[in-house]
Amino acid sequence: MTETTERRFIVEPGGTLTGTLEVPGDKSISHRAVMLGAIAEGETAVSGFLDGDDAMATLAALRALGVVIEGPEQGRLRIQGVGLSGLREASGALDLGNSGTSMRLLAGLLAGQPFASRLIGDRSLMRRPMQRVTEPLTRMGASIATEPDGTAPLTINPVPALEGIDYALPMPSAQVKSALLLAGLYARGDTQVTEPAVTRDHTERMLEALGADVRVAGSQIRVRVTAGLRGGPVAVPGDISSAAFFLVGASIAGAGTLTLTNVGLNPTRTGVIDILQRMGARIHVEREQTGAGEPVGTLTVEPSRLQGIVIPPDRVPLAIDEFPAIFIAAACAEGETVLTGAEELRVKESDRIAVMADGLATLGIEAEPRPDGIRIVGGSMHGGHIDAHGDHRIAMAFAMAGLIADGPIRIDGCSEVDTSFPGFVERAGGAGLRIRSETEAA
Ligand code: S3P
Repeated sequence: MTETTERRFIVEPGGTLTGTLEVPGDKSISHRAVMLGAIAEGETAVSGFLDGDDAMATLAALRALGVVIEGPEQGRLRIQGVGLSGLREASGALDLGNSGTSMRLLAGLLAGQPFASRLIGDRSLMRRPMQRVTEPLTRMGASIATEPDGTAPLTINPVPALEGIDYALPMPSAQVKSALLLAGLYARGDTQVTEPAVTRDHTERMLEALGADVRVAGSQIRVRVTAGLRGGPVAVPGDISSAAFFLVGASIAGAGTLTLTNVGLNPTRTGVIDILQRMGARIHVEREQTGAGEPVGTLTVEPSRLQGIVIPPDRVPLAIDEFPAIFIAAACAEGETVLTGAEELRVKESDRIAVMADGLATLGIEAEPRPDGIRIVGGSMHGGHIDAHGDHRIAMAFAMAGLIADGPIRIDGCSEVDTSFPGFVERAGGAGLRIRSETEAA
């Protein structure tokens, strides 16, 4: 995707976060609703769909593969499923923009199709490691070409058949797990994935809800070819990864109580609540009674005095996208916070350890980056000029720092915020953050 405008945020001191707000739909679940609804039989009606750029890239890709999808209109989609073997060759490359989830999951879905596909993305996505999916898919018999260093473009060529494999994931990654489970729907024999640590399980839950034969036993997930998936209603809850900025913001702000409604509370995603509560955050969780599918609830946050902690390494995969926000909490806490076992942060939309450490140092906070984590010493935060390096979560995390800094914070490189949180500035501003967005031709 070519960028024609560059966006920056300016946050003035003195804001608070109060009232009630609902964050947009969960990005991970929105991607899966489109992909699985597309290959199911019959109609899948989705509500709460996130119309951010990433999930919209998945939606555009499935349309290009021949699937009729109405919407999104106020978060509603109607997907006319084409069945497991109903996808058709796209007329050109599938451009997945900034979205790693789109590229990795689609690599799995498309590896077993009887036609070729080419997957491309923006500058950031074309730098991210793809061997983690292409290597096990190749073991299943897929034919996928990458650049010599294992990055996209991915060129997927048809093969006579995929074979199920038994694969131990070398890193905790829900994207790789999901890619293999999707490919497994098209493989001869069972496909089994063993995780080194629990990662988000939205694919397993949705596959099961649509009638696939998925079995989970401890850290092992097995899928086998099924007669077909049945389309049905999918309700996408609010994204806890988007709520995370507000959990941190309302904790560090000097005053105000903030309530976040309809937040997804899948236990494979709630590490951020656990980590912030260990730091002393006052977050009240009210779970709603829900049937099958994804658990949801309401979170109420009050200002608190945070303490630095050693983050338990087993919490890391359960909060993997929330560390930019957690680092801001650590910068406002008393004492030292130490994170280890988080080398995956270096291969996200940016190197989140390096970029956060630089930004925190700019604001006067002692932050020592380490190969697999960081050490942050809480202190007083000043204003300054940050570069988010086009990483949506870094931009939103530093916006929250503006609640406590003693001067304005200017954040460059914010154009990608719409990938996960369209309307962030309006919602945060409406709740009391003194934020404005400026754009200029790049
Ligand atoms: C995601 C999995 C995680 C996460 C990403 C979304 C998913 O990536 O960071 O934002 O939807 O499966 P990894 O699988 O690389 O950990």
